[in-house]
Amino acid sequence: MKITLNPRFRVFVLCFYLFNVASEAASDDGNEERKPYIVYMGEPVPGANPNSLEHHHNLLLTAIGDERRAREVRIHSYGKSINGFAARLLPHEAEKLSREEGVVSVFESTRRKLHTTRSWDFLGMKESKYQRRIPFESNIIVGVLDTGIYMESPSFKDEGFGPPPARWKGKCVTGPNLTHCNNKVIGAKYFRLEYPNPGEKNKFSAADEDGHGTHTTSTVAGISVSAASFYGIANGTARGGVPSARIAAYKVCWEDGCSDMDLLAAFDEAIWDGVDIISVSIGGASSTYFQDPIAIGAFHAMKKGILTSCSAGNNGPDLFTVANSAPWIMTVAASSLDRKFQTLVKLGNGLSAPGISLNTFSPKKKMYPLTSGFLASNVSEDDYGNPSLCDYGTMGEDKVKGRVVYCEEGSSGQDSNIKNLRGEGVIIQLEEPTDIASATLISATYVSYGDGAAISRYINSTKNPRAVIHKTTSVRTVAPSIASFSSRGPQLISPDILKPDLSAPGLNILAAYSKFASITGYPDDKRQTLYSILSGTSMACPHATAAAAYVKSFHPNWSPAAIKSALMTTAKPMRVKGKDICNASKAETFSPEPILRGREVVYDNSMSSYIRYLCKEKYNDTMIRVLVGGRKEYKCKDFKHGLGTDGLNYPSMHKQLRPTDKRVNAVFYRTVTNVGFGYSVYVARVRAPKGMKVEVRPRILRFVRPGERRSFKVVINGVWVKNWTGVVSGSLQWNDLRGHRVRSPILLFKPDHHFT
Ligand SMILES: *[C@@H]1O[C@H](CO)[C@@H](O)[C@H](O)[C@H]1NC(C)=O
Ligand SMILES: *[C@@H]1O[C@H](CO)[C@@H](O)[C@H](O)[C@H]1NC(C)=O
Ligand SMILES: *[C@@H]1O[C@H](CO)[C@@H](O)[C@H](O)[C@H]1NC(C)=O
Ligand SMILES: *[C@@H]1O[C@H](CO)[C@@H](O)[C@H](O)[C@H]1NC(C)=O
Ligand SMILES: *[C@@H]1O[C@H](CO)[C@@H](O)[C@H](O)[C@H]1NC(C)=O
Ligand SMILES: *[C@@H]1O[C@H](CO)[C@@H](O)[C@H](O)[C@H]1NC(C)=O
Ligand SMILES: *[C@@H]1O[C@H](CO)[C@@H](O)[C@H](O)[C@H]1NC(C)=O
Repeated sequence: MKITLNPRFRVFVLCFYLFNVASEAASDDGNEERKPYIVYMGEPVPGANPNSLEHHHNLLLTAIGDERRAREVRIHSYGKSINGFAARLLPHEAEKLSREEGVVSVFESTRRKLHTTRSWDFLGMKESKYQRRIPFESNIIVGVLDTGIYMESPSFKDEGFGPPPARWKGKCVTGPNLTHCNNKVIGAKYFRLEYPNPGEKNKFSAADEDGHGTHTTSTVAGISVSAASFYGIANGTARGGVPSARIAAYKVCWEDGCSDMDLLAAFDEAIWDGVDIISVSIGGASSTYFQDPIAIGAFHAMKKGILTSCSAGNNGPDLFTVANSAPWIMTVAASSLDRKFQTLVKLGNGLSAPGISLNTFSPKKKMYPLTSGFLASNVSEDDYGNPSLCDYGTMGEDKVKGRVVYCEEGSSGQDSNIKNLRGEGVIIQLEEPTDIASATLISATYVSYGDGAAISRYINSTKNPRAVIHKTTSVRTVAPSIASFSSRGPQLISPDILKPDLSAPGLNILAAYSKFASITGYPDDKRQTLYSILSGTSMACPHATAAAAYVKSFHPNWSPAAIKSALMTTAKPMRVKGKDICNASKAETFSPEPILRGREVVYDNSMSSYIRYLCKEKYNDTMIRVLVGGRKEYKCKDFKHGLGTDGLNYPSMHKQLRPTDKRVNAVFYRTVTNVGFGYSVYVARVRAPKGMKVEVRPRILRFVRPGERRSFKVVINGVWVKNWTGVVSGSLQWNDLRGHRVRSPILLFKPDHHFT
């Protein structure tokens, strides 16, 4: 399918190109080009900021050999929560630095992408119907790493909010288009370590000129705003999941994307500032955890008791596409809501088709003349493009003006092409169905392949074809299901840890937007809006962030792993039919009531659990030492390595088989902590995956006091049924007599060929 998620990405690509050209021109090292690298050095040395600056310089000097050059190339030193620096290096210098003592990893700073309402009601968090602890909620600070914030949005008004929590160390960095913060948005910072043009330095601020950051932030913690809608579409109350929580905005994404060094700098500060939860709707490719700024930042956050919630990516429905998969991250897939957006097209012969789009335009006439790109063609050769697809420069204005035009094969830019020829509207035939409704420059709707063919037949059958495209309305649908674009597991870095962890609404979500951005992102689109509808795992992540903040408002001292466990083990399994299960990759959805009901036992992981896990995964002593930091020598041999198939006390159980495996043997060692009150007895209930025998030892767990831990072992044996590849799934559920249910998915996956 050729439809692009967001026309804005085209703008990104263009600017990225310009940026590269500029930095190349600035290079002064002959043929080889200096590129920004991150030299990551683990935990900061306690109380040693000036020393570490000198240390960073000495390291650079060793690698480069020239005093002046070593000073010139350093871009930034991290040091508040993370040790390391960013510098413009040549590949051999990077290589040399990676061998220095105290250096965990050296990697090029690449660019990551943004993973681009009614949703809370759908999850069961109706405004009046769920229990909240507002004084605790208002003590929670959510850090959002994104495109900044639009302070003028009604969703960020601070009426009724007291001063920020006393422990807050963050700041409001003002600048163009961002002149103040308030008691709701208590911090705003921006990170732009390299300026495309140094003279432009004072033009930057944390103001959101894209809309994405305002959208995600208001989804987490926007206050309740009634009669919010996108041009009347999806009219209702817009509200974040934890409306009383505080917001700290960290702007790391710009027109050219989100650079690794900016992301790491934002983590460095946010952890230090005192945020409680971090939300990151950004991602990109990574080969290992310690060459990925999000995994590194989240690791240091975890050490300070801060959970990081991330989007899983928009590269579905292909398997093995999930991003942000480190086990200390909460990885969120996108599911649909129980509503979709329909844009009806009616034809002169009485037929109609239910298209999909976000059409803000109401027709002014009953019917308009209808034509097709093919009929409007003014080119004889196909050198210029294909008029049937309404390609740029292939149609005559005289044949388009005032008409609705039918185009084949949805691709980005068709609405713009027809608008330029003063067309009235555009009907676009999709090759494959989509679930994403997107905004367009002129009246437009996307129709199915079959409906498109019917419209084409109608055009051919009459002298004066006519059509009208109606304004978009919302209609009910069956939900939830995993959105087509949502990246799927399994993951490639730690094959035996199931990712994504859970799903949340990410399809056609209404939330606050920035008036500094246009609706479609096209330069000639002058429409601005306070609320807009976007789709992506970017939109799912903040829902899960808010659910985590909600849990934290009841349990301020829970570890990040305990919060994640509460969400994962109380998530409702998605009803999936047949092969769809592979698509869903067992991503689950959650609702607040069971989160609270089922919060009685959790799968916890501490820093040392992760160290044992990393030892099992063959990270060596040198790396472990710098990651952990401090003066103590850590040696993997002093730690009991993580045991069993996955080596971690994870709330789900997963094994990736080899393509040739016939027999399955997997062992999972687990420990649950009683976070409820006093005496309770839990009994294991197993739903075994097809063809498998699942043994749980012991099958009964007795707790006498809160805080007690009980260990058990899950042994899975069986024969892979027949010779098909794919997924078999089941679950282990701990039930107590008072109705608490703590459920872990069990999933076995067999690929049809070897993935590396
Ligand atoms: C949205 O709904 C409210 C209340 O139902 C109504 O007053 C308002 O006019 C509606 N707004 C739009 C743009 O339709
Ligand atoms: C087709 O029409 C467009 C718009 O009116 C015009 O720019 C273009 O030059 C025309 N092409 C030909 C081959 O006449
Ligand atoms: C309509 O006519 C055009 C041009 O002859 C042709 O390409 C197209 O396939 C026809 N559509 C249908 C549905 O037959
Ligand atoms: C504020 O935002 C507007 C709209 O994007 C932009 O045109 C303007 O340049 C911004 N102001 C500054 C000082 O950057
Ligand atoms: C995933 O779902 C899509 C559409 O629902 C379907 O076409 C595709 O075959 C599914 N993929 C797998 C691996 O089941
Ligand atoms: C640990 O691994 C790093 C990177 O792979 C390597 O440079 C270093 O020499 C290793 N250290 C030991 C003690 O094996
Ligand atoms: C097993 O695999 C072979 C070759 O891929 C195929 O021809 C056969 O139909 C498969 N059998 C079953 C039961 O799926």
